[in-house]
Amino acid sequence: MADIKGKNVLITGGAGFIGSHLADTLLMKGAGKVIIVDNFFLGKEENLAEARATFDNIFVYRDDARDLGTMKTILRKEQIDIVFNLATIALNYSFFNPYGAYRVNVDIAETLLHLLQDGAYQTLIHSSSSEAYGTAQYSPMDENHPMNPTTPYAAGKAAADMLIQSFYNILQLDIAIIRPFNNYGPRQNDQALAAIIPLTARRILNGEKPVLEGTGLQTRDFIYVEDTARAFLMAYENETSRGKIINLGSGKEISMKAVIEAISEYYGYKGEIETRPGRPADVQRLCASANLAKGILGFEPQVDFKTGLRRTLDWYQAKYHSR
Ligand SMILES: NC(=O)c1ccc[n+]([C@@H]2O[C@H](COP(=O)([O-])OP(=O)(O)OC[C@H]3O[C@@H](n4cnc5c(N)ncnc54)[C@H](O)[C@@H]3O)[C@@H](O)[C@H]2O)c1
Repeated sequence: MADIKGKNVLITGGAGFIGSHLADTLLMKGAGKVIIVDNFFLGKEENLAEARATFDNIFVYRDDARDLGTMKTILRKEQIDIVFNLATIALNYSFFNPYGAYRVNVDIAETLLHLLQDGAYQTLIHSSSSEAYGTAQYSPMDENHPMNPTTPYAAGKAAADMLIQSFYNILQLDIAIIRPFNNYGPRQNDQALAAIIPLTARRILNGEKPVLEGTGLQTRDFIYVEDTARAFLMAYENETSRGKIINLGSGKEISMKAVIEAISEYYGYKGEIETRPGRPADVQRLCASANLAKGILGFEPQVDFKTGLRRTLDWYQAKYHSR
């Protein structure tokens, strides 16, 4: 088992949703230094406010993780042992700038592999996405499910995974790939490019109708963000993860219609739900097989959807009502 205690860690995208929760987890578990590299495309200082108020060993670089020279300098200066790669630009960016949505995923992976090969740090824990699979051809989806990305974002995630795996295959570098399904929880972006839970919460709290795209029968497998952060740490600690791709999901699927109804019910919203045409290339079904994560990492989600949704919706309500 590898021990995080005293290790210097860099999180790309650490001012974002999952990255900031990962920072909290690593700090609480005794990491030496936690270094955040984020260009603040969607990252927010407020996501790190609590961690920065509690710990004096977290530092933020407002930089682009694609840049080889910048990353080399930071890795050397901060004597980094482990990089958790979580930087990306949200899936919905694919509809505005398809090339950019694809490219950022590949560019950062290339930079990090180059620096890993050069010995600038020792271990890469990389975040993939269930979007790399595309719509389920069978369910639950294990890690052997074919990759059929339907958006440029997903193509970039799939390409980065293949690149990283190929480096592992030829060089046996210290690498693990975690493939989360849909995450939700406090701090998820609720503005432009938002995902369904924060978007629906924001609209209802602002007195707007929730929006359902397409039939509403599309399904996703939701995992609470603190479970995901814990799993990233477990992927570092359990070295049997090296060279593998490991799904992170609950093994349960829920439709978009049911998600909107659950949020409406929790907030006591009884108005209409606005329907819009389905997004092009929307994945229709996602449901994880969580067996490998359990077998290799001993990981099982601790927060069920009902509990996680309640915590999340309370958080957005407090955020909007404190304004
Ligand atoms: N949220 C989900 O449901 C979900 C599901 C599966 C996988 N993932 C993966 O988890 C990781 C984190 O996602 P998230 O939901 O926290 O997204 P997020 O948008 O909240 O966080 C990503 C962070 O990356 C930063 N960033 C973007 N480009 C950058 C660059 N060039 N250099 C440095 N920082 C940059 C953004 O500013 C942002 O803070 C991503 O790899 C994503 O693909 C997320």
